[in-house]
Amino acid sequence: MSIKVGVLGAGFIGRIHALILKRDPRVELVGIADVAPAAAARLAAEVETRPADGLPALMDAGAQAVFVCTPNVRHVEPVVTALDAGLHVFSEKPMATSLDGARTIRDAAGRAKGVYQIGFNRRFSNTYRFAKQRIEEGRIVPCMAQMKHNRGELQQPVWTGDRSVTGGYLYETPVHLFDMGRFLFGEVAEVTGSARQSAYNELDGFAMLFTFRSGLVASVTSVAHTSWLFPYERVEIYGVHSTIVTEELERAWFSPGVRDQVEAVDCFHMPFDQKWGYIEQDRLFIDAALGERTPAVTAEDGYRATELVEAVYRAVRGGGVVRLPLDG
Ligand SMILES: NC(=O)c1ccc[n+]([C@@H]2O[C@H](COP(=O)([O-])OP(=O)(O)OC[C@H]3O[C@@H](n4cnc5c(N)ncnc54)[C@H](O)[C@@H]3O)[C@@H](O)[C@H]2O)c1
Repeated sequence: MSIKVGVLGAGFIGRIHALILKRDPRVELVGIADVAPAAAARLAAEVETRPADGLPALMDAGAQAVFVCTPNVRHVEPVVTALDAGLHVFSEKPMATSLDGARTIRDAAGRAKGVYQIGFNRRFSNTYRFAKQRIEEGRIVPCMAQMKHNRGELQQPVWTGDRSVTGGYLYETPVHLFDMGRFLFGEVAEVTGSARQSAYNELDGFAMLFTFRSGLVASVTSVAHTSWLFPYERVEIYGVHSTIVTEELERAWFSPGVRDQVEAVDCFHMPFDQKWGYIEQDRLFIDAALGERTPAVTAEDGYRATELVEAVYRAVRGGGVVRLPLDG
């Protein structure tokens, strides 16, 4: 079985997906579209397909699935249009930049013939899988955690420093960490925290506390103006005399007991697109589009991550504790 796929947005991440899709024998790339025609033409040439004007042109070219790789505030419209037209949709994160937007997509995905999957690629990295597997096997029962995901800057691409395009810093980078919290520990019951503005024209540093329904308590921090000093992303999970530590998508350790031997996974030598989970993520999306499985990361996951972003903004702006779900 094969499938015709188009890519909307020919920037950094659109190129990563296009290169992966080109190597998948089940995929025929039918076009690359971008508001900047030169960007579409360049990537189309690199992956040996045709440039297209926009989503309608990708559909005219016969696309059965589309990868939406446009900047954050430009996800809802093409995603809903494509889903309503019967296409399968892979959307980059964030799902949307408001609860309303996320709800609109979740509704569209619910009534769609095609599948919807969101790009929380970290779930498919070996480091976080290493952690998840040990939790699922019951080898550690997490009680407390410490999670951080920083950014060196909000300058590359330029729009990452523009809140009217990102929806706010939390939608740009921490949304990955919030999804990881749900992936590892389940639903969040309440959030609180403080934030400040130091370098950019918005809140750009967050210290948060998440309490999960399981009772697990996690301190969660994210600062947009650090540097890229390793490891800008790190998760520590504490059981009773057991610990998991991850460092970016490079490596992870599991210490099962006070005197037990430590287990480790080292991804240092893996190619970037494999290490970051992109290859596996895209393979699973194509599986789902071909009807071989359900989407690996769902519209509900996208909605819940959006809800966490909104809950944190409410908590840091209004003070106090914000309980989830926000709509119930
Ligand atoms: N999952 C990840 O690891 C990951 C990594 C990077 C970016 N992202 C997400 O992917 C999206 C794109 O990020 P990027 O780094 O590739 O940005 P980018 O600026 O490199 O590329 C975005 C491209 O979209 C084009 N574009 C803008 N508006 C458009 C529109 N309405 N229709 C068609 N094309 C349009 C731009 O011209 C540009 O070429 C963002 O939402 C970002 O948050 C995810």
